[in-house]
Amino acid sequence: MLAALLLAGLVGTANAADIAKGGTLYATHCATCHGANGRPVMPGTPDFRRMQGLMRPDMQLLNSIRAGKGTMPAYFGVLRDREILDIVAYLRTLS
Ligand code: HEC
Repeated sequence: MLAALLLAGLVGTANAADIAKGGTLYATHCATCHGANGRPVMPGTPDFRRMQGLMRPDMQLLNSIRAGKGTMPAYFGVLRDREILDIVAYLRTLS
């Protein structure tokens, strides 16, 4: 029983998004427009501190980021899905 719980914990950790990694990637790829800590720098950019643009499931955000939206470039081929999901997990800590 205990072993099963420990194992479940380990598996959970392996699958969980890496928020720290997401934060580093965000600083590199996203902060020019979305700003440090999600405070928008470029006009027309959602304010992540107010959860703007984030009120939808992770998979939809993944698609927006992969495909690009408005003036936001597409990140397909630049970032892997795993990395984008790490960033999304980071975005959800900003509000
Ligand atoms: C060149 C500026 C720019 C960069 C760089 C940029 N974004 Fe954006 N982003 C925008 C703008 C502008 C919008 C609003 C688009 C719209 O609604 O027309 C947006 C929207 C979004 C949204 C809301 C998507 C939705 O479906 O409404 C998310 C999430 C997001 N960006 C995440 C990111 C992430 C993560 C990165 C880095 C990998 C990034 N952005 C890089 C400008 C940028």
